[in-house]
Amino acid sequence: MEFIHIAKQRSAVRNYTQKKVEPEKLEKILEAAHVAPTAANLQPVHLIAVQSQEGLHKISKAANIYGAPLAILVCADHNKAWVRPFDNKGTADIDASIVTDHMMLQATELGLGSVWVCYFKPDVLKKAFDLPANLEPVNILAIGYSAEKASDPERHLQTRIPVDKLVSYEHL
Ligand SMILES: Cc1cc2nc3c(=O)[nH]c(=O)nc-3n(C[C@H](O)[C@H](O)[C@H](O)COP(=O)(O)O)c2cc1C
Repeated sequence: MEFIHIAKQRSAVRNYTQKKVEPEKLEKILEAAHVAPTAANLQPVHLIAVQSQEGLHKISKAANIYGAPLAILVCADHNKAWVRPFDNKGTADIDASIVTDHMMLQATELGLGSVWVCYFKPDVLKKAFDLPANLEPVNILAIGYSAEKASDPERHLQTRIPVDKLVSYEHL
């Protein structure tokens, strides 16, 4: 499928069937994460794939993942990330989000639903998964088979600002 069709087809899914994500599909999603670019190729990201009842229960204390059978905790390693020397801006969150987006779109291509979750209690998550101080959970990607009606791929005409408001050429 053409990339733009995958991008248009993807939507935030907040209702899942109980069907588990097949290991080969998870493997492909993780392969997409593996090839994602990071600043200076420093790869300051660690993923924790959670599928067990116990693990999902631990996540549910920190976040709503809408009953998805798979959640990938995307953690940024602030000790490894590139820092821009001019203003000390670190790219850990950016790198973690590129990895997340690669996985999300790969999941769509595989016929899976997903939702990107940032509304979580970081301290609860860090404690539940014994994360060391340098690893910050940045995103949770919840994945599974959608129990929702598919979203209209052309909905962005209504749900996004117009392209001419998004982009300006040469001058603001
Ligand atoms: C950085 C980020 C954080 C998000 N956090 C949450 C969240 O915590 N809970 C949630 O239900 N959806 C969350 N979403 C999903 C957005 O609400 C959703 O992508 C947006 O409303 C656009 O809808 P669409 O994905 O269906 O096109 C998040 C999305 C992004 C990109």
